[in-house]
Amino acid sequence: MTAQLIDGNALSQQIRAEVAQRAAALTARGVKPGLAVILVGDNPASQVYVRNKVKACEDSGLHSVLEKYDAAMTEAELLARIDALNRDPAIHGILVQLPLPKHIDDHKVIEAISPAKDVDGFHVSSAGALMVGEVGFKACTPYGCMKMLESIGMKDLRGKHAVVIGRSNIVGKPMAMMLLAANATVTVCHSGTADLGAMTRQADIVVAAVGKRNVLTADMVRPGAVVIDVGMNRNDAGKLCGDVDFDGVKEVAGWITPVPGGVGPMTITMLLVNTIEAAERCAA
Ligand code: GUN
Repeated sequence: MTAQLIDGNALSQQIRAEVAQRAAALTARGVKPGLAVILVGDNPASQVYVRNKVKACEDSGLHSVLEKYDAAMTEAELLARIDALNRDPAIHGILVQLPLPKHIDDHKVIEAISPAKDVDGFHVSSAGALMVGEVGFKACTPYGCMKMLESIGMKDLRGKHAVVIGRSNIVGKPMAMMLLAANATVTVCHSGTADLGAMTRQADIVVAAVGKRNVLTADMVRPGAVVIDVGMNRNDAGKLCGDVDFDGVKEVAGWITPVPGGVGPMTITMLLVNTIEAAERCAA
């Protein structure tokens, strides 16, 4: 193996220690940072995610509320809950776990969250703020990827070419914006891009966020490149794996994030950071 690992668990621990300090300082001033997590329905993966988010809050000294609702909840009922949480002074961040049941319009629900409490960074106002360089909340997964780059000394990316594979609203697009804000040259590809390898071989940084195994193989990576794997898939043996052919790519890349233990823990960590940030803005 030639690549060095970027350890998301270790970096998370470090950042969560800072989060705990900031939470304690706020609490001492009478403002306990609070996150509300809403889960509608019984998607098994979502149940695990929300449990982990609530536990992370408790571990770092944040107040958290988990609201679980039956899949039959109406859109109007959900909007009414968000309205109440928007006005609740004990709650600084609101997260509605996606996907929602089909009869509920995701976009309408996200837009109902006050931008001041949009700690997921999914509101149009947060996405727009990121695009024009104003203060807003950054989407947690790409924000975590940026922190991983920073941890290996890649904060200012001037002169670097980053290739993002994937163009989802929650990872690919905000990732591209954050890389641009860090002065990188950015190419955004997707699974239908012609000769994807020709693109990725030019990259100093590749971020794979498609949700499909082996999207990035060793022949597609420039020696020494940094590879960030956002994927969360299962291989034939049922083992968790990313979008990157880790065994092959680690022989070529300079740095690589593992799955599990890479981007995954960073997503929750950045949610905590955003919630603290929301509470600090509120207390300012
Ligand atoms: N579903 C998958 N990822 C996420 C996320 O980061 N936030 C929310 N709210 N739902 C998700």
